[in-house]
Amino acid sequence: MTRTTDVTQPLRIALAGLGTVGAGVIRLLESNAELVTARAGRPLQIVAVSARDRSRDRGVDLTPYDWVDDMTEMAARDDVDVVVELVGGSDGPALALARNATGHGKAFVTANKAMIAHHGLELAAAAESAGTSLKFEAAVAGGIPVVKGLREGAAANAIEKIYGILNGTANYILSTMEDSGADFGATLKDAQELGYAEADPTFDIEGVDAAHKLAILAAIAFGSRVNFDAVQCEGISRVRAADIAQADALGYVIRLIGMADVETAQDGARALLQEVKPCLVPKGHPLANVTGATNAVVAEGNFSGRLLFQGAGAGDGPTASAVVADLIDIARGETGAPFSVPSDSLEAVQPAHSGHRIGQAYLRFAVTDKPGVLAEITAAMRDAEVSIESLIQQGRANHGGEVLVAMVTHHGPESGVSKAIELLRDSASLTAPPLVMRILED
Ligand code: HSE
Repeated sequence: MTRTTDVTQPLRIALAGLGTVGAGVIRLLESNAELVTARAGRPLQIVAVSARDRSRDRGVDLTPYDWVDDMTEMAARDDVDVVVELVGGSDGPALALARNATGHGKAFVTANKAMIAHHGLELAAAAESAGTSLKFEAAVAGGIPVVKGLREGAAANAIEKIYGILNGTANYILSTMEDSGADFGATLKDAQELGYAEADPTFDIEGVDAAHKLAILAAIAFGSRVNFDAVQCEGISRVRAADIAQADALGYVIRLIGMADVETAQDGARALLQEVKPCLVPKGHPLANVTGATNAVVAEGNFSGRLLFQGAGAGDGPTASAVVADLIDIARGETGAPFSVPSDSLEAVQPAHSGHRIGQAYLRFAVTDKPGVLAEITAAMRDAEVSIESLIQQGRANHGGEVLVAMVTHHGPESGVSKAIELLRDSASLTAPPLVMRILED
């Protein structure tokens, strides 16, 4: 079915979810009405809104809009062209609304990374078969137009690699630890008190939120099916102040990096590596200067070269900016494939194993301070054929106390490091599991 929208009429919007972003969308459409209309070629008009609590004061006037108690009903309304979902959650009401909207041939705009990471393929197929739009710029890195950047600006390129800082909370915590010298736990607590981290920060600090965004970016960049389950994910909760100080002394900062790239074997088979992990970033790399809650994405195009997208990854204004950009596209009649190529052409690319990647790594061991511990660690390195570039023991504990041993490896396969860590798994000398961080190249 191909659905055509009448681009001479206002674009009629139903807005589900009136939290900070929903209120931000209303404010943006009011403040920038004239320029948005000029760019869209027609007015963008909210006709209906829905949220859990009708009585809450959101600082915006809702009286011009129809209040709808059951948000899924909005999808069936004849006076609605596009449904905007700002409710969140990978399943539940958000997914029901998305299915309902595309099922009724309505365009659908969402900021919901979890839903797109889990159900993006299904929803894209539904939108494509209805001849309508599915758009999710706000789902990846808030106000940064990185989905558009890849789908449109860099569309002529083969993307060789895409990576970046995809979670503002984690970046805020790491860069604050860098400035203050404080440990992770205290910094997280402060971040929660200041409103930079949620009461339950698990998704942000354990890399899940970044993994949602990475899975979406990888699909667009590589024409692969969204495969969130294949993202190898590790968060920042084990990074200590001592790691940050050691990285600093070696010329690096620590950042939570989401990274995806594709390897092509001789027979043409592709394998997709998707990882979210804390990494050492050289101080001269553009991502090293990304501090606070900022997000940044690097895409390496085969003709464009390195592209850097940077900006606010969250917040009402930036996220509303991305939502309304999608609405402007829809008002203009844009119904391109959500993931850049039609969903039935997205390839089911097998997950790659990082083991044979060549690179340098930072390893940190928390050990009991007693004779023979260093020999045990270096023997594991020897047996796994990992070559050590430098080794630093930090401090001196009372006999039997904990000290940290950090090392940087020479370039070598990541499988060697994994093997060494495995060899040490049951070591009685380790007081905590080792921390391994990849060192990013410049
Ligand atoms: N909680 C996210 C962050 C923003 O800290 O970056 C929304 O994904």
